[in-house]
Amino acid sequence: MDKKKNISMAVIKRLPKYYRYLQELKNNDVDRISSKELSEKIGFTASQIRQDLNCFGDFGQQGYGYNVKELYDQIKNILGLKKEYNTIIIGAGNIGQAIANYINFQKIGFTLTSIFDINPKLFGLKIRDIEISDIDTLDSFLKKHTVDIAIICVPSKNAQSICEVIVKNGVKGIWNFAPIDLNTPENVIVENVHLSESLLTLSCLLNGDI
Ligand code: NAI
Repeated sequence: MDKKKNISMAVIKRLPKYYRYLQELKNNDVDRISSKELSEKIGFTASQIRQDLNCFGDFGQQGYGYNVKELYDQIKNILGLKKEYNTIIIGAGNIGQAIANYINFQKIGFTLTSIFDINPKLFGLKIRDIEISDIDTLDSFLKKHTVDIAIICVPSKNAQSICEVIVKNGVKGIWNFAPIDLNTPENVIVENVHLSESLLTLSCLLNGDI
């Protein structure tokens, strides 16, 4: 896996798509696939696929293509999905509740262990059996439990202070939905999600001038 070190972000961003298609192929009992066939399915060129996968090792075989199960397992491994992640949600409003309700994250290894909010009306309510707790208990919760990923779904004005509590307690991954650039130490990884950027890409393309 030494090759992994200089993998570009563009390649990393394409891996989930490979994973999704390979899972579908595996579920349909497809044993092997050529880069050309994979290219037709995924929509990347065959040479792009070969180049991407070459970053991680020699997966394909000339004249044989890729062994679907093997490639799926390797990509699953590269995506870090061979282990489980404990997650918490902070902010149980529209977005926070939608994420908490989405059972598929659990299925792929992201276990939601707790939800926090500042609104007393929400304390004690449950989403999928997980209780919403007072944000004031976040610090003590983090001192007692290992959390791998914190999902921030609070208004942007409150996101940085939440981030500081999380980081101080050793959480290394933040999935940030608040539209703000969080200030974090280098060893903390922040993945920002901006649904509106995707929507604006769509409106730009619909506009027809491009
Ligand atoms: P919302 O108002 O429905 O929910 C926010 C929740 O955060 C409320 O329950 C509130 O009580 C709680 N909260 C506020 N301050 C808190 C604190 N200090 N600690 C704990 N809980 C706190 O808002 P919505 O629609 O769920 O949006 C949440 C965040 O996600 C906002 O920052 C919004 O701008 C952002 N957002 C991001 C999108 C994206 O594509 N990334 C799309 C839509 C919203």
